[in-house]
Amino acid sequence: MSGLQVRPLHPSLGAEVRGIDMRVVPDAATFQALHDVWMQYQVLVFPDQDITDEQHVAFTRCFGDLEVHHQKIIRSRFLPEIFRVSNVNDDNELMPPTHATVKQVALAQFWHTDSSFREKPCTGSLLHGVEISRTGGETHFTNMYAVYDALPESLKRRIHGRRALHDFGHLHKLADLKPLTDEERAAMPPVWQPMVRVHPVTKRASLYISPIYNDEIEGIPQAEARQLIADLTGLAGERRFVYEHRWEPHDIVQWDNRCTMHQVTPHDPTERRVMHRTTIAGVDTVLAA
Ligand code: OGA
Ligand code: MN
Repeated sequence: MSGLQVRPLHPSLGAEVRGIDMRVVPDAATFQALHDVWMQYQVLVFPDQDITDEQHVAFTRCFGDLEVHHQKIIRSRFLPEIFRVSNVNDDNELMPPTHATVKQVALAQFWHTDSSFREKPCTGSLLHGVEISRTGGETHFTNMYAVYDALPESLKRRIHGRRALHDFGHLHKLADLKPLTDEERAAMPPVWQPMVRVHPVTKRASLYISPIYNDEIEGIPQAEARQLIADLTGLAGERRFVYEHRWEPHDIVQWDNRCTMHQVTPHDPTERRVMHRTTIAGVDTVLAA
């Protein structure tokens, strides 16, 4: 008996989990129960978890090593494992929408899965709503197993065995940010990832794209590749696949980046929004289906 109370949130994915205190590291049985629920629902919402960044990091560590983001403008100055999804800086000052950090964070308004540009992409992310938005800033999640299953056979055949390019630099083109320097590019070189992957735990196949990082597909002319990514993204965004999370203060949402994508809705830029993320580092390269 783990004591977890689990309430499904949408027919496609997502469950609310109560009966756990994230200030303390769970024992082995509780961790196993939690992990099983995570694998089943892909996105877990933990309400009322007013934890410190240190507790957030310690809890995440149960799932594996943590990723440290390669850019100073994103990671916390105080705790490098904290990825700041925020329009407020480390000195607690609101940044304007023209600030490079805010522009980059705003790209999360497009569907993506986290750190797919790494050779070993992250496993999961845990996002803490420290100061949430009331004018927007909802986070939407889509089930990429279900999206893959729903593809017509002809489209499945078209993408099976193919790889898409995941390029961190593509983000900078989209956001009209300064292009990466040679040094930055060398630190995060583009990687080819299979478009259909197998989840290492559930063994299920899912569509694996991350449109903010993709504009090339192996063996397909670029214009056609872009259209294909746009079409797949359109399907992934259909409501039947999507859970829309409306944040309350100190919700923590944990998602599996191996079988979901997410996006955030815009909000009033004069309103503070402070979200702290930890990221479970990947241990393996992506397994092609
Ligand atoms: C993220 C992300 C969306 C949000 O933390 O990886 O994309 O709602 N966040 O802030
Ligand atoms: Mn993200």
